[in-house]
Amino acid sequence: MSLPVDAVDVKKRIEECKSLQDVESIRLEYLGKKGLIPSEMKLLGKLSIDERKLKGQELNKLKTLVEETVNNQKTNIENKEIEKKLQNEKIDVTLPQQEITDGKIHPISQTIFSIIEIFGNLNYSVEAGPDIESDFNNFSALNIPPHHPAREMQDTFYVQNSDGEDNVLRTHTSPVQVRTMLKTKPPIKIIVPGRTYRSDSDSTHTPMFHQVEGLVVNKDANMADLKSTLITFLKEFFEIDNLKYRFRPSYFPFTEPSAEMDVAFTKKNNVLKIGEGDEWLEILGCGMVNPKVLENCNIDSSVYQGFAFGMGIERLSMLKYGITDMRGLFDLNLKWLDHYGFSPLDLRNRAEV
Ligand code: PHE
Repeated sequence: MSLPVDAVDVKKRIEECKSLQDVESIRLEYLGKKGLIPSEMKLLGKLSIDERKLKGQELNKLKTLVEETVNNQKTNIENKEIEKKLQNEKIDVTLPQQEITDGKIHPISQTIFSIIEIFGNLNYSVEAGPDIESDFNNFSALNIPPHHPAREMQDTFYVQNSDGEDNVLRTHTSPVQVRTMLKTKPPIKIIVPGRTYRSDSDSTHTPMFHQVEGLVVNKDANMADLKSTLITFLKEFFEIDNLKYRFRPSYFPFTEPSAEMDVAFTKKNNVLKIGEGDEWLEILGCGMVNPKVLENCNIDSSVYQGFAFGMGIERLSMLKYGITDMRGLFDLNLKWLDHYGFSPLDLRNRAEV
């Protein structure tokens, strides 16, 4: 007795299929519930024992052949499809990079990246603290007791917590000096870039702005170190080797002595030129950490001394990138950002490492 169909023929039919559906329909034709092989199987019972055995074997052989050929052909077709997809989706890495027009880095972020890079190279690490601060961290520990006139220097936003206790939106990054000294033993060498808040708004003030704080505490920190650090920083930041600057005596309750640093500028045809000329722009406040502050933070002021500085990031940013109205920085205007922002891939505007 022979097979109901020519086995060679089925194999060929399956192998000629170009799509998975075609293979599947031949599979159903042979192996489906009402397919050829199950139907023939059902008829076996009517045959004699010898015939049944023989035909049964042949049907099983055919079944295996169809199953194997179907599986192989399905795999072949799938592989061919993947190959085709890979061909079509191939990226030619030798083509020039497409220009990315979407998404710009905000000048404030760019400025913070530069500041971190420059101080990073001077071995400073970066610290952070919360925007909502206790009165102690923002004022008292920094030698600004309640009702002290120095509190009037900063128009503070007060926020009450659930216990009715007064907290503040930090008016400067200096409270992170306190936080760091309370949790770490000297030597300390940190910068703190972050948001700060004062109730003030005009073309050179926004209620939220950014500062970067610096703090060094060890056994021999001194004014000369402080000055050379700040000079190095500003020369690198503005990329001007012979930057003209001056230090002026000043007053901050948390530093003693205190100073402010100015940078020279000229204005020609309404264009600001930094680093030369006869006019002065105040850039930062600094000084030796007041021993009272060290003591408030449990640091022995007979053993340790420190210096600190603080500067406004918006001002640095505006001077470096020629931005004239500070409020533009926070208007969320995409056209503005497209003009003043930085491409994420453009490393040329970063400080050189
Ligand atoms: N915290 C001061 C301010 O906001 C700046 C400052 C920081 C001055 C550290 C001296 C030392 O104006």
